[in-house]
Amino acid sequence: MTAAPADSTLFDTRRTLIPFKTSLLPQIFCDTLVIGCGVAGLRAAIAAAGHGDTIMLGKDEPQMSNTAWAQGGIAAVTDAGDTVESHINDTLVAGAGLCDAPMVEQVVRRGPARIAELLEWGIRFDKDVAGRLKLGLEGGHSLHRILHADGDATGRELFRCLWERATATAGLRVFTKCFTLDLLTGEGGRVLGALTHHAKYGLQVIWAQRTILASGGAGMVYRETTNPRTATGDGIAMAFRAGASIADMAFVQFHPTCLYLAGAPRSLITEAIRGDGALLIDQSGKRFMTGVHPQAELAPRDVVTKGIVEHLAKAGGTNVYLDCRGIAGFGRAFPGIAALLKRYDLDASRDPIPVHPAQHYTIGGVWSDLQGRTTLPGLWAIGEAACSGLHGANRLASNSLLEGLVMGEIAGNDTVEAGREGGEGGGGGRASMAFTVPPTEAGDLDLADVESSLRSAMWRNVGIERSGARLRSSVDMIEFWGRYTLDKVFDDVRGWQVQNMLTVARLIAQSALAREESRGAHWRSDFPTPAASAVHDVVARTL
Ligand code: SIN
Repeated sequence: MTAAPADSTLFDTRRTLIPFKTSLLPQIFCDTLVIGCGVAGLRAAIAAAGHGDTIMLGKDEPQMSNTAWAQGGIAAVTDAGDTVESHINDTLVAGAGLCDAPMVEQVVRRGPARIAELLEWGIRFDKDVAGRLKLGLEGGHSLHRILHADGDATGRELFRCLWERATATAGLRVFTKCFTLDLLTGEGGRVLGALTHHAKYGLQVIWAQRTILASGGAGMVYRETTNPRTATGDGIAMAFRAGASIADMAFVQFHPTCLYLAGAPRSLITEAIRGDGALLIDQSGKRFMTGVHPQAELAPRDVVTKGIVEHLAKAGGTNVYLDCRGIAGFGRAFPGIAALLKRYDLDASRDPIPVHPAQHYTIGGVWSDLQGRTTLPGLWAIGEAACSGLHGANRLASNSLLEGLVMGEIAGNDTVEAGREGGEGGGGGRASMAFTVPPTEAGDLDLADVESSLRSAMWRNVGIERSGARLRSSVDMIEFWGRYTLDKVFDDVRGWQVQNMLTVARLIAQSALAREESRGAHWRSDFPTPAASAVHDVVARTL
């Protein structure tokens, strides 16, 4: 993505979550530090370990990630009837004028090689009776090109395959339940590693020649989200604190069909089901997407989400329904969803499934280029933590696992190239550094209340449909909550996560307020059309 000048006037925050002196903490050294163990982190760590001692961190159990939870699959050109040009075009159309064309081309062109590699590493994609890869259709794709595993458990199988490969890779150490608080930076903003907190060993300093941020998105800033509890935007917040440019945070993808039942998780009901013929109906049993878009239920996600919200506003009701009664063998095709529905006494062959959109994917993130390099030397950002330009204003279904695979491989290998260019700086330097934070009065704070108030406010006012007045009051409110939450020094993950959520929520709200247009996933009722030209918005703290 072409670098746009960053605006440093929007808001400031303190440099680190806690004060610390590296010389007083246990110290670990490596060549490459990978923060995050979803698809992007795993693939990057496997590549980086080929060039030197690598450490990969997971903040929780490794399966607690959007990758492992993914139902829908990996979009890639693997069939003779498909073309790279068609996949590129579908991605650009969904991205509504804001994709970076070279990045789209790179990811789509390199996709088939990554799929071939996964097959060589033993991934079990679904196949047809003739033993050919089964290809599904999802919203915005003009052809069947989505690979799945176990019907609706693609992420689980992808994670298994990469995790087994990573943990058998020489030179790669994996620390789980290890939360990263902040990036260490030296002269010129060069990233030298990170300050971490391990559940058993406490605070540690990890010095690294190169650091790859693959820490995922920030779905937890919304009350309604398909994301796991770990998606608190830590990587984006710490990169912002360290001075990296953060781009296009207004763009948050809301998945149209999430289970909507009191007491049930907002679990995704995969788009692949619509690809297999499921229809969206309202409470009177009528289809409503046919009049909205020629692709009806299989229009790009932003279109279907908006179609549902507008239909509910007109016709009333709290949710719509996904009618799967026409799909023969639903339980065999989508065993995970069938089992989930059974827990709530629903049977897709008999009952329309109540659904509503929920937050699903953080499109904006840490600005990164074709190699995954950020604006800070020594720091790469890949996967959902990054804003690479692949998704533009709206991500095409099943393009993100593909992005993680392609950019993981590129960034993991590029760290070596950067070393050759003379960009070494961390680890070996063994610098002693001190980070201070201004003292504050520790008052009583109900963190759970701050967190739930933030998540509700984001859902109500910075959610699917936005307006200037509501965005302005959200920015003011988040800033106010931040004044007495971001000044505190917490000593546990819970507190640090809430501080990160406040920082990321502020970045999203501010970006949404500044973007006076509707484009892709960003829908402003007061600016209902796209602006004449598509521009990125980029912010950074002054170093
Ligand atoms: C889905 O299965 O509908 C989600 C796939 C994705 O998020 O790309």
